[in-house]
Amino acid sequence: MAKIYSKITGTGGYLPTKKLSNYDLEKIVETSHQWIVDRTGIRNRHIAEDNQSTSDLGLYASEEAIKNAGLKNNDIDLIIVATTTPDQVFPSTACLLQQKLKINNNCPAFDVQAVCSGFVYALSVADSFIKTKSAKNALVVGAETLSRIVNWHDRTTCVLFGDGAGAVVLSASEKPGILSTHLHANGSYAELLQVQGGIGNKDSDNNHQFIEMKGNEVFKMAVNTLGKIADETLKKHNMQKEDIDWLVPHQANLRIINATAKKLRLDPEKVIITVQEQGNTSSASVPLALHTGVSDGRIKEGETILLEAFGGGFTWGSALLKL
Ligand code: COA
Repeated sequence: MAKIYSKITGTGGYLPTKKLSNYDLEKIVETSHQWIVDRTGIRNRHIAEDNQSTSDLGLYASEEAIKNAGLKNNDIDLIIVATTTPDQVFPSTACLLQQKLKINNNCPAFDVQAVCSGFVYALSVADSFIKTKSAKNALVVGAETLSRIVNWHDRTTCVLFGDGAGAVVLSASEKPGILSTHLHANGSYAELLQVQGGIGNKDSDNNHQFIEMKGNEVFKMAVNTLGKIADETLKKHNMQKEDIDWLVPHQANLRIINATAKKLRLDPEKVIITVQEQGNTSSASVPLALHTGVSDGRIKEGETILLEAFGGGFTWGSALLKL
């Protein structure tokens, strides 16, 4: 019997219309356009309207991915949403998205929480469902309204993040698709990047939950870890760095992306970069970057792509795939 792969058959993305530039931020906190560009590469980020929730952003991205896969909404038989900013405590954002997509075939739907690595985690879970023939067409979404958990008085974090959603349809195929996924976490670093409090914490003030980050330490860990996970992934396939056609990294900071590409000795032209105009959209950043590269024609069918991400937890992961 032929081996079953899961293959990306459609991608989609959505960014809210409202943009917040570095110049806008200069009016909110003591910062400057030049400081933000020099330290992060970011120039703009998108911010959801007050009446837009994470599942709303996910809906637009999902509809586009399903259309590009040539499927109808009810062909989807698994929905996984990676998010740190769910619409509600429950039902999951995936169930709310299922409702908005009018998918009425009772397919499983659930969320994955691994912060900025969430999409890679969700992709890995969906890949397992498909390889074990528990699903044929999985919708995998990374969607965030991070602007709701940003402290707009904290210049060290508020300049970094943005809202958005990216989605892919992963379908069972006899042609090579996802070659492997690699997931890791180390909870002992929890307090370096966190939003304290939560529904299950009796002492927390649930109206004041904001991103807190020790930026310098996160930066160093991110660069080191992303280099190592790329090596681990290539080693598994006896591949060389030159075998990668495209690196699609998590978009947190241009300096982190450039340092990772340098470690991989990868031509900067082979890296998909969206951080300048989107900021860090957490779990949405990898699928949004992938969608950008596919829809503008740079990434072509049959090419080898390395996705990698790093985020709070710490969590990190990679996926090596053929488009
Ligand atoms: N505007 C102007 N000055 C700022 C500023 C801002 N928005 N944010 C911080 N500063 C100041 C600091 O207060 C500090 O001033 P001081 O020297 O007087 O104390 C100075 O700039 C340097 O701060 P530092 O934190 O050392 O800067 P940095 O070069 O490490 O850059 C980050 C800060 C946040 C951009 C960087 O650490 C980073 O990108 N970290 C990783 C973030 C990340 O990717 N997180 C998500 C991972 S998923």
